[in-house]
Amino acid sequence: MKVDLQEVAELIRNSKNMIAFTGAGISVESGIPPFRGENGLWSRYDPKCLDLDFFHSHPKESWMAIKTIFYDFFGKAKFNAAHKVLADFEQMGIVKAIVTQNIDNLHQAAGSKEIYEFHGNSQKLICPHCKKIYLPEEVNLDELPPLCKHDGHVLKPNFVFFGEGIPEEAYANSLAAARKTDLVLIVGTTGEVMPAAMIPTEAKRAGATIIEINTEPSNYTNQITDFFLQGKASELLLQLEDLIGEKS
Ligand code: APR
Repeated sequence: MKVDLQEVAELIRNSKNMIAFTGAGISVESGIPPFRGENGLWSRYDPKCLDLDFFHSHPKESWMAIKTIFYDFFGKAKFNAAHKVLADFEQMGIVKAIVTQNIDNLHQAAGSKEIYEFHGNSQKLICPHCKKIYLPEEVNLDELPPLCKHDGHVLKPNFVFFGEGIPEEAYANSLAAARKTDLVLIVGTTGEVMPAAMIPTEAKRAGATIIEINTEPSNYTNQITDFFLQGKASELLLQLEDLIGEKS
């Protein structure tokens, strides 16, 4: 079914409380592989490295994978046009908030302000014991696992591991935004991982219209999506921004 981009652009322009819900797919054009699908990280690394129990019982092995994936890879990534358009949409008063599953900090780097990080952020490390927060540059990741300078405990990236709870404030803010919004723009997610994946569904239940941008159909496409734009996030978002026209 061919979707009329002009119609979608009008919907976005006339929305009252639009939010974006983003996943790894929005950062693929920044050089960060997705988790699933071809070339996905979970086809190359064992997701157990992000299992909380495994991390505590095998800190060095877990940290070796975490360093490669989240610090060597992510560390060099720059935001792409898709992140930038969402930041422009916020400046234009169109996007009120971004609920992201990503921990790569690229929405912040692109200039977005109202961001709810459902899975935390890789830009901080925490000592699970004394709760001291470290920036990656304050920690020597050539010696793994990194230890707290204060009490010697193994530091943990301050993002959510499998088996770990969602940060309460991000959860509450995301749910409130989902229940208030009239339009959700889903960008680049399979919709596989709960409870994050229920945010767009919650919005749909509250009466929102769902626009989805993805290179492939997702769990949402034949369920809640009203307008499916198949293609790359940066290309489609740039086209939508041009159609919406006035940039602040
Ligand atoms: N533009 C748009 N979508 C894209 C692009 C692109 N250039 N490239 C890939 N995609 C889509 C894929 O088709 C897929 O649907 O992005 C999605 C990526 O899916 P996942 O890798 O499953 O990422 P995500 O849905 O964010 O995973 C959710 O799983 O491992 C956990 O905590 C991790 O936050 C992550 C969660």
